[in-house]
Amino acid sequence: MQIVSTITAMQRLAKKWQRTGTRIGFVPTMGYLHAGHLSLVKRARQVVGKSGKVVVSIYVNPTQFGPKEDLAKYPRDLKRDLKSLCEMGVDVVFTPNDAEMYPGKTGSGFSTYVVEEKLSRPMEGASRPTHFRGVTTVVTKLFNIVLPDVAVFGQKDFQQAAVIQRMVADLNFPLQIIVAPTLRERDGLAMSSRNKYLDAEQRAQAVILFHALQAAQAAVKKKSISAARLKADLKEFITAAPLARLDYVEFFDPETLQPVAQVKRGTQMALAVFFGKTRLIDNARL
Ligand code: PAJ
Repeated sequence: MQIVSTITAMQRLAKKWQRTGTRIGFVPTMGYLHAGHLSLVKRARQVVGKSGKVVVSIYVNPTQFGPKEDLAKYPRDLKRDLKSLCEMGVDVVFTPNDAEMYPGKTGSGFSTYVVEEKLSRPMEGASRPTHFRGVTTVVTKLFNIVLPDVAVFGQKDFQQAAVIQRMVADLNFPLQIIVAPTLRERDGLAMSSRNKYLDAEQRAQAVILFHALQAAQAAVKKKSISAARLKADLKEFITAAPLARLDYVEFFDPETLQPVAQVKRGTQMALAVFFGKTRLIDNARL
């Protein structure tokens, strides 16, 4: 496994592979990898095959963190990540630093951003106003550096995957996006690097997100129900976890992300819940 930290070296490798018709599969991450990330790596390998190349990026992207967010203490363990990726048979890990990705960020070295203007607005976009601008910008940069034929994203970040699919279609990136299912802990909590922030009590209560999704699934199994009513019920349901503070719960069309008045089978649900300063998200197609 090769570790590459400069943009020129990564682009040189990717261009060489392109010339020989080698398929490139790409999984962008911010590191502190868990089994969910690794399932995306496995998927990338399945798609490009043994003769293809799998590239994983590890980069904690500062532009997608808000001023009051956890950038400085975002968990990192590069040594452990590299070991896991090596064991998975990854070909290249791309690990640039901030000076490489955003030269003179605090000065005048970087001033171009990519902004998706519709799907990025509600939910995560409303709670974290500059978040998706950072995501679409860094993912564009990474696509231009790694030159993938296929890139794999997780359903865990449903809105992120939708925004990136829209960006790829709108800006004609010559690549395919695959969205892979959410991996969960035994009790149902979605795996996330941020779960590490939870203390024992918060961790025990964090399963409320999954239980809220299940409660909504059950509610729409036989009949539709008004979104306002189901929201009110779920707000109440979530107070059963005294350490939980609901940020949002939304019901919407999975393609347009437009809210629906009536929730039924096939409606997409997403929610965000704070435990202390830690903000957890989850979602499901009902
Ligand atoms: P990060 O949070 O590290 O996630 C990297 C990828 O792993 C994302 O596509 C995410 O949806 C996926 N993922 C996270 N938890 C998962 C789980 N439990 N099961 C399956 N997949 C899961 O998302 C980002 O990084 C960044 O925004 C990034 C796209 C790298 C841009 O900086």
